[in-house]
Amino acid sequence: MKKIIIAIDGFSSCGKSTMAKALARNIGYLYFDSGAMYRAVALYCMQNGIIEGEKIDTYALRSKIEDIHITFEADQETKNSITFLNGVNVEHEIRSLEVSRLVSQVAALDFVREAMVEQQRRMGKSKGIVMDGRDIGTTVFPDAEMKVFVTASAEVRAKRRYDELTARGDNADYNDILENVLQRDHIDQTREVSPLKKADDAMLLDNSDLTREEQMDWLIEEFNKITAEC
Ligand code: CDP
Repeated sequence: MKKIIIAIDGFSSCGKSTMAKALARNIGYLYFDSGAMYRAVALYCMQNGIIEGEKIDTYALRSKIEDIHITFEADQETKNSITFLNGVNVEHEIRSLEVSRLVSQVAALDFVREAMVEQQRRMGKSKGIVMDGRDIGTTVFPDAEMKVFVTASAEVRAKRRYDELTARGDNADYNDILENVLQRDHIDQTREVSPLKKADDAMLLDNSDLTREEQMDWLIEEFNKITAEC
């Protein structure tokens, strides 16, 4: 069967990553988390003093961007994708609220996006991938054969992120998370470079009231339809 590219875009914390990961596992495709790449760049800024107050030192980051290499490896046991920043496993650190607070600022920078998009396109060269993010169906892979745009209410998304953080033992405050979700929605939708928006040919999926199983059934059905036509 011909391999395709599956682009999953949407708002923050609507379960895109979990969904994209599960879909990739089900159909034997590779999964790539483009948000993890922007998170890793934000972490790099925190670790290397590339921050002035609460703002990114754009000049310093630009001079370092070629030195930032992000790779993914599958965890031996869980098979989940692990993010490496210049060879160091940063999977846990990039999910912190500190990184979440900085990431949309980093992701709005044109030279950061250029560098990441180039790496992302390389990952999709042989197709057979599921990639999730904000601009995968619009900018990274505008010709992707299957595009899904996911959304859910801000409250549902904040609750999901809260559950995720508390489940792994982190201290979390629901209101802080809700505020962060709303703020990132705003920055992502209004930035000049590749703003978050649904591609015209993407299927819309509002998963506020869907179970993971219902969502997966729907995705597999759509995947089968599309690959049958390829
Ligand atoms: O998992 P969550 O929805 O919270 O976000 P993420 O996928 O980890 O992405 C973190 C941030 O990176 C987003 O809020 C966007 O600002 C940015 N991002 C982006 O600009 N373009 C992408 N393709 C992926 C993420």
